[in-house]
Amino acid sequence: MAFWHKKPKPAAGEGLDPSRLPRHVAIIMDGNGRWAKKRGLPRTAGHAAGAETFRTIAYRCRDLGIPYLTVYAFSTENWKRPVEEVSAIMDLLRKYLAEALEKMERDGFRIKFFGDLAALTPELRQLCLETEETGQGVAGAKYQINVCLNYGGRDEILRAAKSWARDVLAGRQQVEELTDEVFSRYLDSRGVPDPDLIIRPSGELRLSNFLPWQAAYAEFYFTDVLWPDFSPGVLDEALADFQRRQRRFGGV
Ligand code: FPP
Repeated sequence: MAFWHKKPKPAAGEGLDPSRLPRHVAIIMDGNGRWAKKRGLPRTAGHAAGAETFRTIAYRCRDLGIPYLTVYAFSTENWKRPVEEVSAIMDLLRKYLAEALEKMERDGFRIKFFGDLAALTPELRQLCLETEETGQGVAGAKYQINVCLNYGGRDEILRAAKSWARDVLAGRQQVEELTDEVFSRYLDSRGVPDPDLIIRPSGELRLSNFLPWQAAYAEFYFTDVLWPDFSPGVLDEALADFQRRQRRFGGV
């Protein structure tokens, strides 16, 4: 039997052009609840499965050489959920951040948070700050994960506007000198390039207050796959689709 006719298993990112990968991928991790419901499990089981998917996809992005990944973990509106669900999500964050703290040096990545951390419990806030600080110290980190936590795009813009206005009142900024580049420095995403590709799984076709300022020229990819089922193969499909797009940024 001609065993060489067997196709080898495709390597990570096979078929993708490494020179045309997005620099920044942003993902709305949606569909955890429906994934759990389909299996007769509590919603919290969906979040636990979603957190595992987050880890898999984060490492996949790093291995492909995509330097920035941003994920929507908890929105300013998610506090409306039942208290047990909120605390289960916060527990997962605690668990995965503790793991990230241990591994970021070895695996060469850093973590940043977008959102208003003031509303978190003091312990979780402390863990977030410690994670950011440790990440700053990772020499030669080539990969950054931004976790949107108690994040809302309009809230981010309002906080930035207030902060800029305070600088105007203090004489540190001039109204006439405000440009989008200057304003970007007041956003949680300061220093991070805008996302090139925004992915939303689970069949929903909206932005839901996710990075509205930064999404100005992003490409969008929607899929019916629920987040816990989102595999490296689905990421590859999104990246392949991105590589077929023509980006003109308002030009011709
Ligand atoms: C949206 O699905 C998901 C969330 C609001 C929570 C996302 C949180 C995690 C994946 C866990 C922790 C994160 C990290 C970074 C470790 P949904 O509950 O709205 O799903 P549904 O629309 O099917 O109800």
